[in-house]
Amino acid sequence: MAKPVTQGSLFRSRLAKEFDNKTATFHTSVNEDLRIFEDDINCTTAHDIMLYEQGIIPAKELKLILTALDGIRQKWRSGEVTIGAEYEDVHEYIETTVIKQIGIEAGGMIHTGRSRNDQVVTDIKLRLREDILKMGDATLSLVDALQNRATEHADTPMILCTHGQHAQVGTMGAYLSCYADILLRDQQRLAELFARVNTNPLGAGPVGGTSININRKRTTELLGFDAIQENSIDATSSRDWAMETAAVCAIIMGDLSRIAADILEWSTVEFGYIELADEYASSSSIMPQKKNPSTIELLRGKTGESYGALIELLTMEKGLTSGYVQDLQETKLTLWRTIDNTQICLEIMAGAISTMKIKSERLAKPLKGNFAMAVELAETLANETSLSFRESYKIAADLVNLTISRGATLDRLKPEDVEASAAKLYKKKVKVTQALIDKATDPMQSLQRRVSLGSPSPVEVKRMLKEHSVLAKKQRSELAKKRGSIEAALEKLHQTAAAQSA
Ligand code: ARG
Repeated sequence: MAKPVTQGSLFRSRLAKEFDNKTATFHTSVNEDLRIFEDDINCTTAHDIMLYEQGIIPAKELKLILTALDGIRQKWRSGEVTIGAEYEDVHEYIETTVIKQIGIEAGGMIHTGRSRNDQVVTDIKLRLREDILKMGDATLSLVDALQNRATEHADTPMILCTHGQHAQVGTMGAYLSCYADILLRDQQRLAELFARVNTNPLGAGPVGGTSININRKRTTELLGFDAIQENSIDATSSRDWAMETAAVCAIIMGDLSRIAADILEWSTVEFGYIELADEYASSSSIMPQKKNPSTIELLRGKTGESYGALIELLTMEKGLTSGYVQDLQETKLTLWRTIDNTQICLEIMAGAISTMKIKSERLAKPLKGNFAMAVELAETLANETSLSFRESYKIAADLVNLTISRGATLDRLKPEDVEASAAKLYKKKVKVTQALIDKATDPMQSLQRRVSLGSPSPVEVKRMLKEHSVLAKKQRSELAKKRGSIEAALEKLHQTAAAQSA
């Protein structure tokens, strides 16, 4: 029989036998823990400095511990650490390695007043807050890309659809600015999420605190958390912030999938509104003519992963009893996967948007005489004659039918057509000029007249873009501020550790 991989495990003193190899491999979290390797070292460094300051670890032992931890960090950074299923997790690996190096008298102090239950959740939050900031950056880069292209195309008219049918004239700028606004809200979601993630669970112990005189405020400060996650049962057993992360990722991915749907439709020969840069397209093994927008299809497909991750986390954590349970170990795998997926999709979309060709002439092609001008005709009649909106609407509908029966376009209407329809439907005599019809059926004039706040009129779109790019800048500087204060705290932690081990 093969020797059990977990020989000499740190945490099995009460147990007569080791895990068998299959169970050890099943049970270990070392693979998903690699992502929190350095966070675990930071967490332990802060905890042990605090224990020293509280008079619990003597200076000599602290020095040995910090030197050993730093050695592990250096080995990790130079790629020399390999961990397998002989360890339950990275926490066991690090404690075991420290004890191997400096002995159990000093090394055995590192875990005083702490449990893996508060430790792991602290590590995850340390990593997650960085991931959230990185996703925030990527979201804002996509906002920038959308706003830049929107500014470029604030005056490029296009047909807007409802139900997939021509509805009203708008602009490409209005469309792109719409998604910039949506992504800006996603960034706000990430910022609000950050506030709930950046609270410190360390010091909650296994579930009910500790009788060791620890100082939770101090580790909060040392690790750059904004506050303490107080209740020890809550701190160790809640993962609502992980579910919320997956929810925000799912919303972001849903938003990206909507942009993807438009890009894919508009890349068809039938539409031809846009063309992706070659870097984002693929071809075919047999059809030499092909330029497939497959990168964007893939991105849309990955939305499924993201929704799956949310359901996974919600399901894993549904109905769990309070207090740490091993089910929670699974959270990490799903969380890392969905964050990485969302991150790369944000980056790919920003690149695709920045580089795609927007074909203004194709966008303009369906505009002339388009039935989408019917609403404009109805509104112009309501504005400029004594007809009510509903009367004007019914007359415009009558004129649409008349135009269809003639096989013509709306801009070919004559004043007599309008007057005849008003007389036929309402026995009303209205005076209509050719100028009124020309004005009402001209797409560019129609856009200029769109006075309502938030409409696609170029003036409105430019105003919105200006104001919303200020908002985006503000979000960026808030991100930088958050990153700065984390970096400053960790820098100070490392300096304190260096001073203690000198
Ligand atoms: N590997 C565990 C996890 O990832 C760490 C905490 C385990 N705690 C315990 N009592 N088994 O969640």
